[in-house]
Amino acid sequence: MPKILDGAAIAAAIKQEVAEEVRALAACGVRPGLAAVLVGSVAASEIYVRNKVQACAELGLSSDLIAPPDTVTTAEMLSLVAQLNARDDVDGILIQLPLPAQVDSKALLDAVDPAKDVDGFHPVNAGRLLAGRPGLVPCTPAGIIEILKRSHIPIAGQHAVVVGRSDIVGKPVAMLLLHQNATVTICHSKTRDLPAITRQADILVAAIGRPGFITPDMVKPGATLVDVGINRLTTREEFDRFFKGDAKREATFAKRGSVIVGDIDPKAFELSGAYTPVPGGVGLLTIAMLMANTVRAAKLRRGL
Ligand code: GUN
Repeated sequence: MPKILDGAAIAAAIKQEVAEEVRALAACGVRPGLAAVLVGSVAASEIYVRNKVQACAELGLSSDLIAPPDTVTTAEMLSLVAQLNARDDVDGILIQLPLPAQVDSKALLDAVDPAKDVDGFHPVNAGRLLAGRPGLVPCTPAGIIEILKRSHIPIAGQHAVVVGRSDIVGKPVAMLLLHQNATVTICHSKTRDLPAITRQADILVAAIGRPGFITPDMVKPGATLVDVGINRLTTREEFDRFFKGDAKREATFAKRGSVIVGDIDPKAFELSGAYTPVPGGVGLLTIAMLMANTVRAAKLRRGL
């Protein structure tokens, strides 16, 4: 039987550690603060940001939710970022992505003070990660390493295959796995004979954004599967492809009109040695690591 890598339990443990750090900082008169910027009304982004703000309240961080309209210009956003950079009560700045098309996202991410870049998206922090220097690391990749380490999955010497080369997940997680001494292969949409490569993976990270893309024939039996995907299925046909006969999910589908599936076909999990479920896996670590990064930024900025 494969081991289920329980994101909820690991996220809870990390949050508890962060809350303890927040209490220790309070004794020195410091309260870490996050500014979350949510542009417009993308439903998924609203939920993510709400959860981030709620986590701040739970752990004792201060938070400020700033919600410009979806007609906001790049110049207005740059001015907002400059204000947040200058505010001493703001330790972390989070600009929820995606942004509306008229906003130059790259210019904006480049304008965030790297010391407050709790998403780890600034080129300075990306460079530090590449060079193996201390910096702020993107939350989802950092969470993946926490799951593997806290679940005692060996990384050093293992062949880790990352499918997906995004700046947010694929590239940074590949770098973190390399720093843990894995042998790392990054695959993407132009990779030839992908299944031949994924079948070599001791650790397979799927961050593609396509429902059930990794099928059982692409997995080495006993491998550790890390599923970063969050894909919503809304049609009966899609539902049946992955979950036909699954009574629990059938009930969710009837109630909500949709269910979530990752980038790994759930049938592939059965072959694995261990896997992160969707939901309940990697996704839960993203917010925990954002909290950890905000506290870290607060300490680093004050030389603590
Ligand atoms: N949109 C999807 N994932 C993320 C994330 O980790 N950070 C931000 N800021 N936006 C996102």
